[in-house]
Amino acid sequence: MLRRLYHDQPATFAFTPDNQKWAEAQTKKFPEGRQASAVIPLLWRAQEQEGWLTRPAIEHVAEMLDMAYIRVLEVASFYFMFQLQPVGSIAHIQVCGTLSCMICGAEDLIGVCKDKIADKAHTLSADGKFSWEEVECLGSCANAPMAQIGKDYYEDLTAERLGEIIDELAAGKVPVPGPQNGRFASEPLKGLSSLRGFDSGQTKYNASAQAAVDIGDTVKRIDGTEVPLLTPWVKDPNAAPAVETPSEPAAKSAPKKQAAKPKAAKTAAKQPAKKKTAPKPAETTAVSEKKPRTMSAPRKAGADDLKRISGVGPKLEGVLNELGFWHFDQIAKWSDQEIAWVDSRLKFKGRIVRDNWVAQASELAKKG
Ligand code: FES
Repeated sequence: MLRRLYHDQPATFAFTPDNQKWAEAQTKKFPEGRQASAVIPLLWRAQEQEGWLTRPAIEHVAEMLDMAYIRVLEVASFYFMFQLQPVGSIAHIQVCGTLSCMICGAEDLIGVCKDKIADKAHTLSADGKFSWEEVECLGSCANAPMAQIGKDYYEDLTAERLGEIIDELAAGKVPVPGPQNGRFASEPLKGLSSLRGFDSGQTKYNASAQAAVDIGDTVKRIDGTEVPLLTPWVKDPNAAPAVETPSEPAAKSAPKKQAAKPKAAKTAAKQPAKKKTAPKPAETTAVSEKKPRTMSAPRKAGADDLKRISGVGPKLEGVLNELGFWHFDQIAKWSDQEIAWVDSRLKFKGRIVRDNWVAQASELAKKG
């Protein structure tokens, strides 16, 4: 399927304050210079907030992570879990069309979606409340046929039951997810034939369905305020976990005297120390800084497009311009000390060396 940005895009995107806080905390999970690792969680949260990924949202994430727009678009357009077109304001229904589900009636479920929502997948219903698509196996084959609606699975479906579920959602109700034929989970339909004690003292529904019932929702857009409810085991979801940077290996920061550890754990704790002999990345090496030659403005012919350097996005290009760098040949001449000077002025360290800006700039300068 061709995956392109939708033709009709909103003008702007902003995370809600809570989602923004959450997104910033995600970037702190990774060592300096590796913030691009947060691209999928941030895109996912943008989609959870808006329902689909807009172009401004993709650009916003790129700017937060100092990535080129195209790099983030590549991720968004590669993974099918990212919706690149508007989805129903109430729910987007993902019907599994893989083997088990197809044998057990997925085509009938798709027929319901066509009748009740829209003839074609990825198309909004007339009232804009629903959309649907066929997806590959969602790993619930023992409860085929099934569909994912919002955050939850509706399993052991019939065409009739799916139709009812859509009607209930349209009426503002929250149908209980999980098996729709009376099963607790994926046990035999006639009941357990072994492990009979398994169900004593359990909740009414299986764990994930019960969580949805407790929350009272399956399809709400995420604005960040509900995170503690969805993940009650996380005390402060916005608190960034301690990050182990290359210059602060666990062995150094851990208390010296600890209770006797299993051998494997001891070995693991020692491992970072062994790396001392390996060449250190620029950000951990004490290189003295030297200010490169800068310019107060670009040459008459105009500035080079520094975004052509892989790893340089619009935001980073602006920073480089502010520092006095407008041309590839300027960057191509940076020495190690000069790299250290520039690096110390960037938000995420280490990317100049990691992305090899100097060599890239040198090539681009040669090409004119
Ligand atoms: S085949 Fe449908 S969930 Fe696996």
